[in-house]
Amino acid sequence: MSLAKKQDSSSFLSNLRIEVMRKKHLDKVLEIENRAYPNPWSRAVFLGELAHGITRSYVVALSNKRIVGYCGVLYVVDEAHITNIAVDPDLHRSGVGTKLLAHIVRLAWERNVKSVTLEVRVSNHPAQRLYQKFGFQPAGVRKGYYQESGEDAIIMWAYDIDSSEYHERIRAIEAAAGIEPTQLRARKLFRR
Ligand SMILES: CC(C)(COP(=O)(O)OP(=O)(O)OC[C@H]1O[C@@H](n2cnc3c(N)ncnc32)[C@H](O)[C@@H]1OP(=O)(O)O)[C@@H](O)C(=O)NCCC(=O)NCCS
Repeated sequence: MSLAKKQDSSSFLSNLRIEVMRKKHLDKVLEIENRAYPNPWSRAVFLGELAHGITRSYVVALSNKRIVGYCGVLYVVDEAHITNIAVDPDLHRSGVGTKLLAHIVRLAWERNVKSVTLEVRVSNHPAQRLYQKFGFQPAGVRKGYYQESGEDAIIMWAYDIDSSEYHERIRAIEAAAGIEPTQLRARKLFRR
């Protein structure tokens, strides 16, 4: 990447804000969702997730007030399950997914989560690369998990996310992308 492009990308990312997802965001979230997936979640599914309160965290990424991505996670004791992550296709590979995932990891730290899991399509190499960057490793396969195509899902886990090594990994990812870590409590992004 040229220096100019790197500076552009770094200033784009430092201007990107993360907010708790709310009903008012859903029109744009659904637009992205419908472009991102062959079997998109409906508004009712998002509303159901938002209604779950403290067992879930859903966030949106905003660039100049425009929603450019979102991510959700559900917590079960000391584990977290990433339920959804998608970025506006026009802005893929600009670091939005990285910023969202780093934020979700920081929320998980606040909850004393020790491991994080997710499912990803066998064919979805971009997402798998993103997850590998965050230390997720394949741990099994769910046969025919995606009903519309019968495609298998790879189950991935990142373990020991509370370790100092993992903290260092996230800080290094953020530093390399020019992402300023979100101060969760100070910015009221963490709700107990
Ligand atoms: C997966 C997704 C969220 C990634 O978002 P993104 O904002 O493009 O990701 P980033 O720009 O932060 O990229 C982070 C890393 O992911 C990997 N990656 C992302 N897109 C990639 C691609 N098209 N090809 C190869 N690697 C890719 C790279 O390792 C990249 O790091 P790098 O740019 O430093 O090499 C986005 O592609 C998306 O919305 N896809 C559709 C929905 C989806 O598949 N969600 C996941 C369901 S499990």
